[in-house]
Amino acid sequence: MAADIPTFTLNTGHKMPSVGMGCWLGPGGGGDVVEEMCKTALKLGYRHIDTAYGYFNEEKVGKAIRESGVPRSEIFLTTKLPNHHHDYVAESLEESLEKLGVDYVDLYLMHWPQAYSRTDNKPIPYGQSPTFLETWKDMEKLLETGKVRAIGVSNFSVKLLELLLKEASVVPATNQVEVHPCLPSFELKQYCEDKGIVLTAYSPLGRPKEYDGKPVFLTDDDVVRIAKAHDATPGQVALSWGVQRGTVVIPKSENPERIKQNITLIKLSDEDMTALNVIHRKPGMHRSLLRYHSNSQDGTVFGWTYEQMGWNMVKGGIVADK
Ligand code: A2P
Repeated sequence: MAADIPTFTLNTGHKMPSVGMGCWLGPGGGGDVVEEMCKTALKLGYRHIDTAYGYFNEEKVGKAIRESGVPRSEIFLTTKLPNHHHDYVAESLEESLEKLGVDYVDLYLMHWPQAYSRTDNKPIPYGQSPTFLETWKDMEKLLETGKVRAIGVSNFSVKLLELLLKEASVVPATNQVEVHPCLPSFELKQYCEDKGIVLTAYSPLGRPKEYDGKPVFLTDDDVVRIAKAHDATPGQVALSWGVQRGTVVIPKSENPERIKQNITLIKLSDEDMTALNVIHRKPGMHRSLLRYHSNSQDGTVFGWTYEQMGWNMVKGGIVADK
């Protein structure tokens, strides 16, 4: 049975479950672990799975869906166009559908605004063809094929969304970005709400194991205090905050107990929400928690500067508070 969680309505009229299983398991793709994880999730009531061409596991996700016994029509499935296919949109979708073994996806996202060259896989400088506007135009055409129910973007800032919306015929249904209590992105969230774009939070738990197993905000005093008061875990607090403020969350877990926990939301009070809304204001907390920031010695993200991305950040992903 589907879990009892809210759904959000996209600008296409389709419903999107507020909690999904995130399928990024590193560059190896995760192999059988992904298949098992998705099967467990579907058994425990998940009806939303988020993968990508670049997660290297579309075959395993598709196999899990087929063998789960849950009808395809009950599952909201997202996949994403990789950077090196920005001038190869229709073909790339076909490759993804083939690997997933499905006739359509519910949501197809441009994974990043940056394009890479298809021949040498190197980043193409900002503004050069294929631009994200050109790629978006090709994605719009996919809607007529019935092979995608909705299209959207990922890793887009307000600046890039503004540029996109000036030219777009179709408003993206969602924008999927890193969002959690250390990076609540209030301005982007408001902008998306104003434009009818659902904001999806990836890494809503802050990818805790990347910090040598030391979670950053899951051990925060306020998060722990609120968790105790609700007889819940810090992870449930972070995810419930995400859904209650109107964002979709897609936590990854391969552990059955945590898979279950992550789709068991709690009702937070106004006071709880207020406390969680300001965690990023504590010293050193306002930042991205993902490695692609700390790996970047020159302050670029996949070939573009933070300024080109429209991200108000400095080296290491620290947010440059105004
Ligand atoms: P595991 O798969 O062993 O559960 P994010 O989705 O923010 O990128 O975080 C994913 C990471 O968080 C994974 O390492 C996952 O480990 C861990 N994780 C998933 N659910 C929880 C939870 N409820 N509490 C703490 N850590 C979690």
